[in-house]
Amino acid sequence: MKYSKIIASGSALPGLAVSNAALSERLAAQGVETSDQWIVERTGIRQRFLASDSDTSSSLGARAARAALEMAGVPADSVDLIVVATSTPDHIFPSTACYVQRDLGIHGGAAFDVQAVCAGFVYGLATADALIRTGAARRALVIGAEVFSRILDWTDRGTCVLFGDGAGALLLEASDAPGIHACRLHADSRHEPALRTAGGVRNGQVYGHPFLTMDGQAVFKIAVTVLDQVGREVCEASGVPLDSVDWLIPHQANVRILQAVTKRLGLAPEKAIVTVDQHANTSAASVPLAFDHALRSGMLKPGHRVLMEGVGGGFTWGAALATL
Ligand code: UT7
Repeated sequence: MKYSKIIASGSALPGLAVSNAALSERLAAQGVETSDQWIVERTGIRQRFLASDSDTSSSLGARAARAALEMAGVPADSVDLIVVATSTPDHIFPSTACYVQRDLGIHGGAAFDVQAVCAGFVYGLATADALIRTGAARRALVIGAEVFSRILDWTDRGTCVLFGDGAGALLLEASDAPGIHACRLHADSRHEPALRTAGGVRNGQVYGHPFLTMDGQAVFKIAVTVLDQVGREVCEASGVPLDSVDWLIPHQANVRILQAVTKRLGLAPEKAIVTVDQHANTSAASVPLAFDHALRSGMLKPGHRVLMEGVGGGFTWGAALATL
């Protein structure tokens, strides 16, 4: 078995959908001015799902994982690797992946988190793919799960309207044929100040600034540049020409970024899967949420070639090319 193959997907969203209009009303009560028109024009976002007090990255992640296992019709205990990409873990430790494992009733196998912010899912996918290729794992759940609403400064209109909560999961297994052709990962910490949550816990006290801060325009430019570069790089590494890619699933941050990347890659606009309008930016969850939407709505079909891309704080970015 030389490759890993995606055999199913699943997703989970919190129960509360909040439209731009409802959010604007709520923020106005706190003296923060925004509007549906501004949010739609600048980002393409129309609504987001926000976690209730009882939702956590692990509870959403486990729900998404269960949906993927059901789609594949395989038992949970056949999974020997769980990788969760999250920047909003339930606790400092154990990992959110261990809580997902507990919720799925799995004992044994490996479970760990990866932290690459909005590129986290692609980082997790590349890690699971590599472990399956070496024979260290045979069936893996790769999950992106986030409750970003908990690290937003709700008085900062430049960021709080952009994010939502949710989780998505892909189920991978060892295969004689691809599957995942190639993955490429990058990081460059020189851009770190443009996007961060620079706080933590020390001796029982929160220190620093535990809310997301962002230079939106700087992030926009970096995202468009690196998603174009890494998309080309992974296609070349796969020996698959860009014009035979059926679907592009980029990180869902802003519809303008998605459109710009699709154009730069020379792909037809309708080849890009867009869910940012419904989910907003769910960080590491955005790519698997978009994948699951596209698979369940019949857009993705067996044999299709899918280019997945992520970019986020760090800065980190990466891409994976897969045949379904
Ligand atoms: O997952 C990766 C993380 N994030 C991203 O990928 C985000 C990348 N960046 C972006 O998506 C865009 O830069 C934003 C959506 C964040 C902002 O769009 P922009 O077109 O770059 O707007 P801007 O920051 O230049 O702001 C334009 C105006 C400003 O007012 P003035 O200075 O022109 O009077 C802002 O104060 O829009 C104002 N503004 C808002 N107005 C209403 C900023 N946020 C809001 C808001 N509602 N929520």
